Amino acid sequence: MSTAISPTAYNYKVVRQFAIMTVVWGILGMGLGVFIASQLVWPQLNLDLPWTSFGRLRPLHTNLVIFAFGGCALFATSYYVVQRTCQTRLISDSLAAFTFWGWQAVIVGALITLPLGYTTTKEYAELEWPIAILLAIVWVTYGVVFFGTIVKRKTKHIYVGNWFYGAFIVVTAMLHIVNHMSLPVSLFKSYSAYSGATDAMIQWWYGHNAVGFFLTTGFLGMMYYFVPKQAERPIYSYRLSIVHFWALITLYIWAGPHHLHYTALPDWAQSLGMAMSIILLAPSWGGMINGMMTLSGAWHKLRTDPILRFLVVSLAFYGMSTFEGPMMAIKTVNSLSHYTDWTVGHVHAGALGWVAMISIGALYHMIPKVYGREQMHSIGLINAHFWLATIGTVLYISSMWVNGITQGLMWRAINDDGTLTYSFVEALQASHPGFIVRALGGAFFASGMLLMAYNVYRTVRASKPAEAEAAAQIAVVGAH
Ligand code: HEM
Ligand code: HEM
Repeated sequence: MSTAISPTAYNYKVVRQFAIMTVVWGILGMGLGVFIASQLVWPQLNLDLPWTSFGRLRPLHTNLVIFAFGGCALFATSYYVVQRTCQTRLISDSLAAFTFWGWQAVIVGALITLPLGYTTTKEYAELEWPIAILLAIVWVTYGVVFFGTIVKRKTKHIYVGNWFYGAFIVVTAMLHIVNHMSLPVSLFKSYSAYSGATDAMIQWWYGHNAVGFFLTTGFLGMMYYFVPKQAERPIYSYRLSIVHFWALITLYIWAGPHHLHYTALPDWAQSLGMAMSIILLAPSWGGMINGMMTLSGAWHKLRTDPILRFLVVSLAFYGMSTFEGPMMAIKTVNSLSHYTDWTVGHVHAGALGWVAMISIGALYHMIPKVYGREQMHSIGLINAHFWLATIGTVLYISSMWVNGITQGLMWRAINDDGTLTYSFVEALQASHPGFIVRALGGAFFASGMLLMAYNVYRTVRASKPAEAEAAAQIAVVGAH
């Protein structure tokens, strides 16, 4: 690895902007998660208004947590990592600024249109065509900034974290553009270009790869930079990371049909999706093991470093959800789990345990660096945040396991004469305690984000951004 010093400082401004907005959107998106979880406990909270009904706020929650919180974390860290590992400034400050403001405009668009009921009805692709077009333009610009920076790199080698970020950027553009092909009939209404089973297949090819590339591959890019950095150890096996990369991106793209078991989709496509999902366990665990084993010889640091704890526990949840996913993809298991809270529990094992925890760990590492501080204002608050997040996640997913299996078994129970043993309402009543525990777990997780906001505020207030940029001149020596 070359140790040349960059002639200009890095562009940390855009990193700072995205980092702050990650915390802001995280609080809003998770706060809304707690609100809709509470609506399932106390339906009165729907307030008898269309704009505040569960049906409209649920997609707002998913858009805010995935695209606003997760997306801003990915922008912030990818811009930080690509500059440091390529030892060069972003290729264009103005294009980078455009991605920041454009992305915020997309989110504000979601905040306004989803409660008003404008939606394509495709899950995770709800935003209507004018916003979808803006999103596509911002995303292509992001690609230009990211790959342009890689092209002008000062290093010979392209660090593996950038491969993951790069694949996430390319595949997300492809998925978004193909799935959004539609015919607009008015300013906020369009019809999909596809129909019937084809439409469903395209949508779940998109949906699953939104999980695979947006919620996984990008965050693995984060993992490959921040885990070695925080542990102060080189990645366990560079060779494994390359095998991990190619295996993951080759396999993920085929697994979408596991969302459409027992539907009009041809049987062979369902079985192919199931087989590919089971094989996917191997690269997923390869990546998890590579991250975990990076701590070899540094495990003792977990006792004193809550940031490292966030990163390592996120890997444990990643391992857990990528074991659970392939099991749920088996058709017979899916016949029980589909439609139940088990799916929602699996989602949040990945979303809270993996996506949110790795992002939080990465931000705690990165924010002091881009604000010219040694470390966060309070390590004690990071520790408290860690416990709130971990306990919150465990409460969330264990209550959903209990609910999911209860619902699945109650729905399929049949009396000797062939009638259903339980009515739907009885299964709903049985789910009520689980809904309460889930809302409580969510409140734990969201209150941890409030501690983070205070800690970030205190760190930023005492910051010296100019010094961060100047320090970057020196820091590039042996950047990783
Ligand atoms: C405080 C934390 C959170 C709470 C309380 C929460 C709560 C909820 C609730 C109540 C639902 C609706 C479940 C249903 O329809 O039965 C939901 C759905 C969902 N949430 Fe969250 N959430 C939280 C954080 C997150 C985060 C951080 C992410 C992603 C990074 C996320 C991603 C999703 C997704 C993808 C769905 C749709 C699941 C599906 O269709 O199966 N959530 N959430
Ligand atoms: C090897 C890895 C994985 C496999 C094979 C897998 C498999 C599955 C399966 C079979 C379902 C249920 C489909 C259904 O019954 O409708 C599902 C749902 C889901 N999974 Fe995974 N999963 C994996 C990892 C993850 C991770 C790491 C995350 C999050 C970061 C995640 C997020 C989701 C979401 C959001 C859904 C709900 C989709 C919806 O119905 O709205 N998965 N997954």
